[in-house]
Amino acid sequence: MKFVRVKTYEEMSTLAADLMAAQILVKPDSVIGLATGSTPVGMYKKLSKYNKAGKIDFAKVKSFNLDEYAGLDGTNEQSYRYFMNDKLFNHINIDMANTHVPNGCAADLALEGEQYDAMIAEAGGIDMQLLGIGFDGHIGFNEPDDHFTAPTHGVVLDESTIDANSRFFEKREDVPTMAISMGMRSIMQAKKILFVANGKGKEDIVNKAFFGPITPEVPASILQLHPDVTVFFSEE
Ligand code: GLP
Repeated sequence: MKFVRVKTYEEMSTLAADLMAAQILVKPDSVIGLATGSTPVGMYKKLSKYNKAGKIDFAKVKSFNLDEYAGLDGTNEQSYRYFMNDKLFNHINIDMANTHVPNGCAADLALEGEQYDAMIAEAGGIDMQLLGIGFDGHIGFNEPDDHFTAPTHGVVLDESTIDANSRFFEKREDVPTMAISMGMRSIMQAKKILFVANGKGKEDIVNKAFFGPITPEVPASILQLHPDVTVFFSEE
């Protein structure tokens, strides 16, 4: 694991964008795994800039997002599909047909998960997976549990996650209580992991994830078993 500690959010965003850009430069048809949350927003801005300046080309890139709220379709401004279009896809030359976000409106989330994992496998697996971390140690929406879950699956969100994510909604009651999340198999099978964390209150959970025991109570701790992880941690 490479652990890079930087001072500012800006620095973290630049380094993360540069690493993703390098991936796409060396493999123009890369399959990238993408994440939502406030942390990657700065990185997505940089990637959009690089794309506009002709420095990277997303024409052949395929993307798979980690997760989606259950019951929100892509037209809902709180959905992760909407977020991705708004923060990245609408600003780069990616083919929208090559962008994938799990369908949170699927009647059967387990079946949707199976099909999602099959699509990732068919694309050849993920070359570089971007991850953030929740305050409770979740990656995607893999919440603390007594076991790790392998396939993409439906999840019941923790109260603390609903609290944390309610800042994006008008009222707490509007936050969906369920979601669909890529499971540990597709995440851990990614060839490279690009992990970003910043913000007050993340230091403790990042320490637990990377320097504590590997336990499903801290879902991100499974990344200690991955052979190629780069962490960009901003002190800001
Ligand atoms: C959500 C997402 C996670 C993300 C987390 C952290 O719960 N499902 O993938 O890592 O938020 O968000 P933030 O970057 O806003 O702290």
